[in-house]
Amino acid sequence: MGLFSKDLKTLDDLFVHTLQDIYYAENQIVRSLPEMIDKATDPQLKQGLQSHLRETENHVRRLEQAFRLRGIEAKGVDCPAIDGIIEEAEDVAGEVDDKNVLDAAIIAAAQAVEHYEITRHGSLIAWAQQLGRSDLGTLLQQNLDEEKAADKKLTALAESQVNKRAA
Ligand SMILES: [Fe+2]
Ligand SMILES: [Fe+2]
Repeated sequence: MGLFSKDLKTLDDLFVHTLQDIYYAENQIVRSLPEMIDKATDPQLKQGLQSHLRETENHVRRLEQAFRLRGIEAKGVDCPAIDGIIEEAEDVAGEVDDKNVLDAAIIAAAQAVEHYEITRHGSLIAWAQQLGRSDLGTLLQQNLDEEKAADKKLTALAESQVNKRAA
């Protein structure tokens, strides 16, 4: 079902579709993070990605809870956007030879992932509020807060040491 398919009639339909989109995306991220962790050299980067992998596993569980609260089964829909972001990250990582430059590339790729998660969660929370489902909004806000914190940590790591070492 495409975003502009005529099957999406209401804001609630759009909410459910987007919940399925981010559910697929979070699962893909859980699958792809171990390779990024493996390729990272900077110990703080490795550890940061590792702890965000654990958070991401928890994001999947929170989304499953959101499906339950909404009274529908948890399922994903293909999300070509996150597939593209992950594929590009893998392509770039494969092209970079220098370990320090690779760390900078991994941070940039991880931030593209975080920004995707931030935009999807942001829309879902706004729609949940509009639909009178502040319970769903509160739940999804916990994911959003962790995505924003992860993004900030990546920026700090890039600016404090990784970019300098890569230059
Ligand atoms: Fe996440
Ligand atoms: Fe994330």
